[in-house]
Amino acid sequence: MRRAVIFDLDGTLTQSEEGIFNCVRYALDTLHQKELPEETLRRFVGPPLQYSFVHEAGMTEEMAAEAVRVYRSRYTEVGLFENRVYPGIRTLLAALKRRGDWVGVATGKPQGPSERILAHFGLAQWIDRIVGPADSADAGKAELIRAALPEAYDEAYMVGDRCFDMEGARKAGIRGIGAGYGYGSEEELRKSGAEYYAPTVQALTSYLCGKDVGRGWFLSMEGLDGSGKSTQLSYLTQTLERYGYEVVHTREPGGCPISEKIREIILDRDNQGMTEETEALLYAASRAQHVHDVIRPVLETGKLLLSDRYIDSSVAYQGGGRELGVKTVMEINQYAIHGLYPDITVFLDLPHEVAIARRYHDSVPDRMEMESSAFHARVEAAYREMIRLHPERFVCVDASEPKETVGEKMAEHVLKKLFALEAER
Ligand code: TYD
Repeated sequence: MRRAVIFDLDGTLTQSEEGIFNCVRYALDTLHQKELPEETLRRFVGPPLQYSFVHEAGMTEEMAAEAVRVYRSRYTEVGLFENRVYPGIRTLLAALKRRGDWVGVATGKPQGPSERILAHFGLAQWIDRIVGPADSADAGKAELIRAALPEAYDEAYMVGDRCFDMEGARKAGIRGIGAGYGYGSEEELRKSGAEYYAPTVQALTSYLCGKDVGRGWFLSMEGLDGSGKSTQLSYLTQTLERYGYEVVHTREPGGCPISEKIREIILDRDNQGMTEETEALLYAASRAQHVHDVIRPVLETGKLLLSDRYIDSSVAYQGGGRELGVKTVMEINQYAIHGLYPDITVFLDLPHEVAIARRYHDSVPDRMEMESSAFHARVEAAYREMIRLHPERFVCVDASEPKETVGEKMAEHVLKKLFALEAER
């Protein structure tokens, strides 16, 4: 059975308020109109702009037409990308395509900008047809929906967050699903004909795809102590969330109760007598539990798991730093991870001398950080060896640059790699 699912864009796939608010403010300011409160600005999301400038800003039809023109001049350049994909949307679109569904977009936003947004956020790969008004004229939603549907289908849904979407669905003769996480209220959606009301993207996903949403992505971040991992982890999380990934953050050693207890033993400054073998086995033991309790279960839900360190840390610190050898450490860890490698590993590249200098500046060193410079030189060399052996998995970023630059470059590379992986699947 061929199923078609058509989505509205604003308030359903993306949360475009930041860009929309800024552009409405810009239009009002340019036409010397008084500012509008935020709750009024919110009502601009979804309905045709001309309609909103008349009904929300009290303009004449003529002035509203001018406001739309000013709005669009800023929107096409900047406002377009002041946007966020709702977390979980990528999982939903990928799951629909895996089922073999037709996926369309029917939006009141003009065709060109809509295509650019969907391409920019890497969503276009899952969408069979994008339909928006061809020029600045506002087309009726039902017409747009009809145009976004395939030539033949057995069953079709329109997912949208406003009454215009539900009424359009009814006129086009298809079923309406209310996206309750968007800009319309539950009452508005139900009254206008939503046959199902989805309060969250996750509810929408279960309704349309059941439990089988496909595996998520596994990312790890690596680097010497002092390479700026914590800052970059939080920056990467924010960026990934803006692109619609549901990010679950975790760390090694640790990440779950048993592994956190093992972490305390490993990093305790009093445990100077710990043998190198014990240390390597404890890291691997903590990892085995972490894989079992956190990493695999999260990946099964389709989310993106971002781990602060993983197996490469053991190869670098125990294999290189402690000189147990890459091969031995890999063997121990094979038993812990059973072949579960990250899809992408970010390496924050910083010479060990620089990393050490930064670290002493920042905090009291733990047992590992108290190690000598020669130890950290070996750690660095072992990392470089891993990168040489698995170039396809690594994203290496020069971490000596200012942290904003590092963050932007890292995010750009990671997104490019993720989009490519998504396209291959
Ligand atoms: P981390 O939590 O990154 O330390 P911090 O938060 O202080 O930067 O890692 C703790 C230490 O454990 C760090 O020095 C690296 C080391 N380590 C290993 O030696 N082997 C491993 O397998 C892992 C995961 C960490």
